[in-house]
Amino acid sequence: MQSSTAEQCVKVSLAERSYDIVIKAGLLHEIGGRLRGIGCSGKVAVITNPVVGRLYGKAALRSLKAAGYQVAVILVPDGERAKTLRWTAAILNRLAKERFERGSFVVALGGGVVGDLAGFAAALFVRGIPFVQVPTTLVSQVDSSVGGKTGVNHALGKNLIGAFHQPRLVLIDPTTLGTLPTREWVAGLAEVIKYGMIEDAEFFTYIERHMKELLAMEPSRVVHIVTRSCQIKASVVMEDERESDRRRVLNYGHTVGHALESLGGYRKLIHGEAVAIGMVQEASLARHLGLCSQALVGRQRSLVRAAGLPDTLPVARFSELWGAMQHDKKMAGGRLHCVLPVQVGRVTIVPIERPAVKEWFSNLGREARS
Ligand SMILES: NC(=O)c1ccc[n+]([C@@H]2O[C@H](COP(=O)([O-])OP(=O)(O)OC[C@H]3O[C@@H](n4cnc5c(N)ncnc54)[C@H](O)[C@@H]3O)[C@@H](O)[C@H]2O)c1
Ligand SMILES: [Zn+2]
Repeated sequence: MQSSTAEQCVKVSLAERSYDIVIKAGLLHEIGGRLRGIGCSGKVAVITNPVVGRLYGKAALRSLKAAGYQVAVILVPDGERAKTLRWTAAILNRLAKERFERGSFVVALGGGVVGDLAGFAAALFVRGIPFVQVPTTLVSQVDSSVGGKTGVNHALGKNLIGAFHQPRLVLIDPTTLGTLPTREWVAGLAEVIKYGMIEDAEFFTYIERHMKELLAMEPSRVVHIVTRSCQIKASVVMEDERESDRRRVLNYGHTVGHALESLGGYRKLIHGEAVAIGMVQEASLARHLGLCSQALVGRQRSLVRAAGLPDTLPVARFSELWGAMQHDKKMAGGRLHCVLPVQVGRVTIVPIERPAVKEWFSNLGREARS
């Protein structure tokens, strides 16, 4: 991807935990100066994996060293398998051995896995040291690097162990997306589409209009979707930092999406693909419940398809789907809640009952057969 345009800044205002999200091509080469800019004076641990380290480690290190920092690089394995307590412990051991202390910083250089893991280790070390997110995937640039949810997986559940720990700064260099595998790029677009549907009809239309350029990673379009997505995520987080209510709108597409991920053993579909199917199917459920129009379902489905994302439900039996949906974290008071669209740009959170969802599922089958 070529470099483009000026710097964008999105402010996340959370009293003493406030921070900036800076979006700018080439920002990777400015990490050192940016850390100085927020008053980081101690040692720095750059946590990354071999894939990202090989691509961007050198540039990040050069910038940090040029700014006078003493840097330790901590490598974790590539992929979801790094998000464990074992790897958290390995990071904590290194930080202790390198004599890190309160004033030290952690820099998470990589996708959502590295960000979640590094942020969690930073939350635990001496009861919390500051960390800076340098996200390098679309998912991490528009979603996981913002909002302070950190954590790891447990054998009994994804993201079961974690902490809220806001980053001190988020540095987004969109040029890093140029090396992302196409499948990862497209999966990230699902979360971008989600922001349009939950909060901003104009943004949804923008994505519809410019999908071709987005698939070609046209720099100014990429900067726009990353910036707008961060603005929407930031505004939701600012209203509800700890997901007591408002932040739940971010789970649109995720009730069905998470169910599909767990049914596929987290291997068949990557997260964004499962969310894409989830959005289309939840929109269809909303239509069945009389909450939205068929036209909305059509737009949701068309946009998902235009991105090259899947939209059909790969589940044959209702009981299977319903069972998997029960594991969702949004189970409150024994009732399953779902974020459903009302209009493009507006969603509602409603309890959903087994009979109504079953009826919807059976109709789907009939439609598919006809
Ligand atoms: N904390 C949150 O609020 C939040 C939100 C959404 C997702 N998540 C978590 O994020 C994780 C998924 O994140 P992800 O989709 O970024 O996956 P990921 O971190 O596994 O990255 C995907 C793949 O791309 C590689 N990669 C990263 N940057 C690259 C680049 N610039 N060029 C080439 N390859 C690159 C990675 O090494 C990896 O193989 C999940 O664990 C999910 O639970 C957290
Ligand atoms: Zn998601």
